[in-house]
Amino acid sequence: MNKVFADNILQGKVAFVTGGGTGITGGVARAFAEAGARLAITSRKQENLDAMKSAVESNGGECFSVVADVRDYAVVESAIGATVEHYGGIDIVVNGAAGNFLCKANELSANGFGTVVDIDTKGTFNVCRAAFEELKKSRGQILNISATLHYLATPMQIHVSAAKAGVDAITRNLSVEWGRYGIRVNGIAPGPIEDTEGMKRLLPPELKEKLTKRIPLQRFGRISDIENAALFLASDAANYINGVTLVVDGGQWLLGTSLG
Ligand code: COA
Repeated sequence: MNKVFADNILQGKVAFVTGGGTGITGGVARAFAEAGARLAITSRKQENLDAMKSAVESNGGECFSVVADVRDYAVVESAIGATVEHYGGIDIVVNGAAGNFLCKANELSANGFGTVVDIDTKGTFNVCRAAFEELKKSRGQILNISATLHYLATPMQIHVSAAKAGVDAITRNLSVEWGRYGIRVNGIAPGPIEDTEGMKRLLPPELKEKLTKRIPLQRFGRISDIENAALFLASDAANYINGVTLVVDGGQWLLGTSLG
């Protein structure tokens, strides 16, 4: 249970969270539920949803789950529709669904590049677009999970860097276009976060110690660090914050520490 914020800061809000079954976004979903939000989570995999749903419900929270691939607009539209039917509206959208793997640019296929851009960038657009009318009604908000990979250049991550640069563009554009409807659009750019599937897949254990020494705060991030940033941005404390991607990385990107 999060002890940093007052209890129930998201009481009654409906949060639609893509990729909300696992990893960093799973942590954000769980933290939102603990803060009183009613959750709707999506994943491509039913088993990811089942585990999160039972964890949230056994903690007294509400969790509605829908299998959905964010690349498919019709599927996204129907997941949003099912959520509205279930809860009556949507207040918060978290775009966390993402794909990632390490691959040298000269070995990456066009389809490999496009697959990650489709999940991260087009998926983020699809969900924002499909949720727009509901967010307009609720004067709600969007939180896009980004990265810092593209601030400099990260070898073996051209696809994710391009995809997340696109996500940041979506955050800025929508904050400007949709601010007039009372919709806030922000992002979070996590640095290296331990105990995530992404980090297990991307960082060989021998590199972890080396990288830790090059993080100004001298430690990897924790999922709870991202949960706290997300709770802050989603709360009324951030009512005038719009169009920002908050970097939560212990200062790591400033040193240009590359995994490659
Ligand atoms: N290295 C190089 N290319 C890869 C790859 C890898 N490790 N993994 C997938 N690709 C390529 C495939 O070869 C294919 O291209 P091709 O048709 O030219 O061969 C393309 O990407 C699509 O792959 P496919 O497996 O059909 O796509 P998918 O839609 O089932 O899933 C991912 C692709 C990226 C989402 C999948 O790797 C995945 O599920 N990753 C886990 C999600 C994750 O890491 N989340 C944490 C984010 S930080």
